[in-house]
Amino acid sequence: MEGACRIAAEVLQEIRKALSPGITTKELDSIAETIIMGRKALPAFKGYRGYPATLCTSVNNQVVHGIPGSTVLQNGDIISIDVGVFYRGFYGDAAVTMLVGEVSEDARRLVRTAEEALYFGINKAVAGNRLSDISYAIQQHVEEKCFSVVRQFVGHGIGRELHEEPQIPNFGKPSLGPVLKEGMTLAIEPMINAGTWQVDILSDGWTAVTKDGSLSAHFEHTIAITSAEPIILTKFH
Ligand code: MF3
Ligand code: CO
Repeated sequence: MEGACRIAAEVLQEIRKALSPGITTKELDSIAETIIMGRKALPAFKGYRGYPATLCTSVNNQVVHGIPGSTVLQNGDIISIDVGVFYRGFYGDAAVTMLVGEVSEDARRLVRTAEEALYFGINKAVAGNRLSDISYAIQQHVEEKCFSVVRQFVGHGIGRELHEEPQIPNFGKPSLGPVLKEGMTLAIEPMINAGTWQVDILSDGWTAVTKDGSLSAHFEHTIAITSAEPIILTKFH
């Protein structure tokens, strides 16, 4: 899993370097695919239930699963980049919301809160806790900042499959669900909106957008639970 996750992290790092006003989401997708193929790995999303691309590129009010295409990024946009990698029998999955050029303080606050929420969740991913301790920590932080947590999509176990048990909601009461154990590998991925938590799916069958048109942000790491602190397998700089 370290191998798959390292490649996913590398993709996000390179996308961050390439990101600037004027680039299209399709161009970002091809950068990602080139890196992954060059590492003798496979894009995990491409072909998954018919998904057509390597990345999910979700701009502004798009929550997740935005399909790369002719969209030209503009100064002031935020874009969530999600990448899945399959390498030597294992999956890695990671996402980051990035800023394009000069972004409003409101948008930056949303993005910062989503990233903080991910880390609050990860901090609860320790042996002996229960699964929903992660969920609760994420929701508490997001709602304290007066943003909302998307309900329709959740994090997941990950390993030899992209999506394994358990599902990891980003909301809920603490101390419920399975007890976390050393060796579990999880993809924790809060999606948060500036307005309502409700989403619509566009007619492409994939792109989730906020129902009220408000901005949305998404961060994801694949992590491993140990006897001490969790290991963030998709960490990058
Ligand atoms: N990170 C998301 C997930 O784990 C992305 C999935 S995109 C899909 O579900 F195309 F693979 F569905
Ligand atoms: Co995921």
